[in-house]
Amino acid sequence: MADSVASGLEGVVVADTALSEVDGERGRLVIAGHDVEHLGGWRTFEELCAELWGSVPGATSAEELRLALGRERAWAFEELEWLGRALIAPDGMDALRGALAQLPAEGSAWDLGVRLTAATAVFTAAWWRRREGLPPLRPDPEAGHAEDLVSMLRGKATTHRASGLETYLVTVSDHGMNASTFTARVIASTGSDAVSAVVGAIGALKGPLHGGAPGPVLDMLDAIGRPEVAAEWLERELLAGRRIMGMGHRVYRTRDPRAAVLERAVERLEKEGHRTPRLDLARAVERAAEDVLRRKHPDRPLRANVEFYTAVLLDALGLPREAFSPLFACGRVVGWLAHVDEQRRTGRLIRPESRYVGPRPG
Ligand code: COA
Repeated sequence: MADSVASGLEGVVVADTALSEVDGERGRLVIAGHDVEHLGGWRTFEELCAELWGSVPGATSAEELRLALGRERAWAFEELEWLGRALIAPDGMDALRGALAQLPAEGSAWDLGVRLTAATAVFTAAWWRRREGLPPLRPDPEAGHAEDLVSMLRGKATTHRASGLETYLVTVSDHGMNASTFTARVIASTGSDAVSAVVGAIGALKGPLHGGAPGPVLDMLDAIGRPEVAAEWLERELLAGRRIMGMGHRVYRTRDPRAAVLERAVERLEKEGHRTPRLDLARAVERAAEDVLRRKHPDRPLRANVEFYTAVLLDALGLPREAFSPLFACGRVVGWLAHVDEQRRTGRLIRPESRYVGPRPG
C-alpha cells in the first residue's frame, strides 16, 4: 500500500508540454514561447491561438483562423434556437456547459477547435443578454474575435474595449497544468472527443478556487467600499474562516505575473481617459490583503492572483460581473484544445491510483 497520498497532486509532473511554463518561484509565465508581459497588446487572440495550435493537423495562418472563427461564430449564432433550456441557466458556467455539450463531437481536431472557440464566445454573449432580457446580437464574421465578443455582449465595440478584452483573452489563454486543463487532458487521454474535454474543463473552471473568483472579487471590493476599512474587513473574513478571493495561488510564491499585465491594462485605460472606477480601491485592498495574510501565514506568501485584476479590468471595460467566469472560458478554451491535441499525441491514458481506507471483507 502507498505510504503517502499526493491529494492535491502538488509537485507531481504528469506531462511534457510545449504550450506554457509556470515558474512559481520566480513569478514567470511563458506562453507559446513568449513572456506573458509581451503578449497582451502585442499579439492578437488569433495570432496567439495559431501559435498554440501550431501542431494541430490542418493548422492555418492567424488571418485564415480569424476568418474561420468568424464563419463559426455565425454558425453558432444559428444554433442558438436549438439549445433548448441551456441558456436559461442562472449561472453562466452552467449555461456554457449545457450549450457546448450539444455541439456535434465529430470532425477534425482543427475544425472542432475553431467551432468550440467560436461557440464559447457566442453562447457566453447570448446567455448574458438573455439574462438581461435582451435579444442576442448577431456576430460579425469579418471582425476579430475579441472585438466581436464585445459587440455581441454590448453592441458596437469601442477600440479600447476590444483591445482591453483582447489583452485579457491572450493573457489567460494557457497556464500549465491548472485544474481545468488537467481535466481536459484526462478526458482526452481516454480517447474521448474535444467537445467532452471542453465541457469537463468548464465544470472544473467554474469552482471558486479556480475560475469562479473574479465576480466575488468585485463583490468584495464593493463590500469594502473605502480603503480605510479594508484591513478590518479582511481580518473579519479570515476570522470567519473565509478565504480572500483573488489572493493566493497553488504554484506562485510571488505576485501572479498575469495580475501585473492586467493591472497595466487598467492603467492604460486610465491614461487614455477612460473610467477605471475601482483601480485605486483595488490597489489599497491588495496591499491590505497581503498584510493580513502575511500576519496569518508568515511562511506562505499569499499574493494577488490573476482573478484579482481580471475583476478590475473587465469591470473597467464595462463588462458584466456575471459574465466574468464565462469570459475566462472564452480565453482558456484555446489552451484546453491545444492540450487535448498534445495529450492525444502521447497516446497515454492518465490513470493514477488511490489508497483504500475503507472496511475489508471479514
Ligand atoms: N485567503 C485566506 N487564506 C488562504 C488563501 C486566501 N485566498 N489562500 C490560501 N490560504 C491559506 C489556506 O487556508 C491555508 O491555510 P491553513 O494552512 O491554515 O489551512 C494556507 O493558506 C495554504 O493554502 P493551501 O490551501 O495549501 O493553498 P492551495 O495551494 O491549495 O490554494 C488557492 C490555492 C488559489 C486555491 C487559494 O489560494 C485560494 O483559495 N485562493 C482564493 C480563491 C482564488 O482566488 N481563486 C483563484 C485562483 S487563480
